[in-house]
Amino acid sequence: MTHATVDVAILGGSGFIGQALAASLVKNLPTGRLAVRVITRAREKCRDLWSLPGIEVVEVDTRQEPALAEALTGAQAVVNLVGVLHSRPGRPWGPEFDEAHVKLPSRLARCMTSLGIRRLIHISALGVSDHAPSMYLRSKAAGEAALRGTINLDLTVLRPSVVFGPKDQFLNLFARLQRFLPVVPLATPHARFQPIYVNDLVTAIGACLHKPSTAGRVLECVGPDVLSLYEIVHWAGEYSGHPRPILPLPDGVSWLQALVMEHLPGPPLLSRDNLASATVPNVASGPMDPDLDLPNPVSLHSVAPQFLGEASDRASAGRFRRRRTPD
Ligand SMILES: NC(=O)c1ccc[n+]([C@@H]2O[C@H](COP(=O)([O-])OP(=O)(O)OC[C@H]3O[C@@H](n4cnc5c(N)ncnc54)[C@H](OP(=O)(O)O)[C@@H]3O)[C@@H](O)[C@H]2O)c1
Repeated sequence: MTHATVDVAILGGSGFIGQALAASLVKNLPTGRLAVRVITRAREKCRDLWSLPGIEVVEVDTRQEPALAEALTGAQAVVNLVGVLHSRPGRPWGPEFDEAHVKLPSRLARCMTSLGIRRLIHISALGVSDHAPSMYLRSKAAGEAALRGTINLDLTVLRPSVVFGPKDQFLNLFARLQRFLPVVPLATPHARFQPIYVNDLVTAIGACLHKPSTAGRVLECVGPDVLSLYEIVHWAGEYSGHPRPILPLPDGVSWLQALVMEHLPGPPLLSRDNLASATVPNVASGPMDPDLDLPNPVSLHSVAPQFLGEASDRASAGRFRRRRTPD
């Protein structure tokens, strides 16, 4: 299949940040212009994007280099948002981390080089390093290194702290837990974060796409508040209207809790690797770079009450409707 020219191809565009980015890049686009190609392994996951003008969604097995290259053809720039939070164990890291964080970026770099596409914005994470205590952070560092070692790329690496927004799996998860649990047993309550609003991260990515001067740089992306996990969980409960007592767990119990969760069916809520990541402060080393166009990043306190409150209202309305539905 021959692909048209697009401004940006987004890998991982079906995810939480990717969908917000794709939608934002086509806002105010002249009618009939195609601007964004979302590359996903499952078109179904991008239903919300299907009807947006200016976006095409392409389903690809990203492990197949020729298929990936074909999907990238015609793109002027690429944003890589592929990432996973969990993997089976392995050395130096598990197979899922290896594919998503290391092999895929290397494959992407080869494809871009062969197609002559230079511009790449790669979304990494705060705290990555070769010597980090978790497989997640070490594999992310290896992916960055593979891209930095590719000479034909104009690469910007963005390292966000945890990202929040209406469809996140972070504040919403802690809010949901407090709807059902009488008490929240909390691992790593002292872990520190500097949460960034998803629309702000989207602004930062957009700024990088428009500013060639950001090529060759690694930029941290954070919000205005430094919060402990305990505080974040507390506010998630307050703002969703279901505050519950929080029971901070000692390290040994946290580790056991994660071990048990890893063995439950489905993606774990928490893994031992997540605990290891949480020992590294997820906080910026200094003020945000002015090139990211975020002079006043949004505080969690100013938007979370609205989206957590609405999510909570929707959940209550759903339960009410189910109770009234006759059998
Ligand atoms: N959310 C946060 O708080 C946060 C914080 C710091 C850094 N980040 C980084 O930001 C990026 C995006 O995060 P997100 O929250 O939007 O994640 P997300 O909602 O989980 O989306 C991840 C995306 O990665 C793709 N993906 C996963 N494994 C893949 C694989 N093996 N091969 C190809 N594609 C794969 C998925 O695409 P398919 O449609 O193909 O399944 C999905 O679109 C990630 O790199 C993450 O590490 C996120």
